[in-house]
Amino acid sequence: MQREILRAAGGLDVFGRRIHWLETTTSTSDVAAYLAELGVDEGTVVVADAQTAGRGRHGHVWCSPPGAGLYLSIVLRPSGNLLGHANPAALLTLASGVAIAESVRASTGLPAEIKWPNDIMIGRRKLAGILAEATAQSGVLQHVILGIGLNLRQAAFPPEIANRATSVEAETNRAADRAQIFVQVLTAVAARYRDLQAGRFDVILGAWRALAPSLPSSRVEWDSVSGVVRGRAEDVDEQGALVVRVGDRVERIIAGEVRWI
Ligand code: BTN
Repeated sequence: MQREILRAAGGLDVFGRRIHWLETTTSTSDVAAYLAELGVDEGTVVVADAQTAGRGRHGHVWCSPPGAGLYLSIVLRPSGNLLGHANPAALLTLASGVAIAESVRASTGLPAEIKWPNDIMIGRRKLAGILAEATAQSGVLQHVILGIGLNLRQAAFPPEIANRATSVEAETNRAADRAQIFVQVLTAVAARYRDLQAGRFDVILGAWRALAPSLPSSRVEWDSVSGVVRGRAEDVDEQGALVVRVGDRVERIIAGEVRWI
């Protein structure tokens, strides 16, 4: 793995200068958060072969058996233009989705697409997920732990998600090159993070829209205090919100679990 990283070093910036390789851990994001509190440099990466308490968005478990996936977390310390934005965490969410979809395309040739906010899909099945966890002090963003889980092998999924998940090996019918995918992920995250820090938000939004071609006109629903609301997705705005037409009005969905119907 070390050799591939060195070969790619030109495009990595600070990413992966410090990589902590673990055999098994609870969650790479827990370890990365602990290291971030200790003051490690931006770009520090924690990667594990297996997680015993891998977590996804909305409190879901992220199934992480040994060697079945790429499980990694990156310490980010947003600054510059990104910090000046009204919602840096939302932009990071969009940018990381772009980066992972691009890295899957580059390393496997698979037609990865993004499902809002940042699930990485092959057709209707999920290949990878991203969990961005931000820590702020007195309202100022301190660090973000970007956790990335990418399925390499199919065998690992429990029955309840087996027909909604996929893996690189199931889609390509050949062995996944873990090292190459890892390097592509870091390179793509570095490139898209560079765009963010330089204030190129429109570039990220444009790339996101191009990688989410089935979003316009998809039907979605979500739970609100007054019951289930249904509508038609139209776009994503510069705050990272999903723009949905509900009858004759338009709603912006920022958080919460949207179901695609
Ligand atoms: C999702 O729900 O789609 C996000 C899944 C994120 C999983 C990754 S695996 C590496 C890192 N450690 C965790 O516990 N979660 C993230």
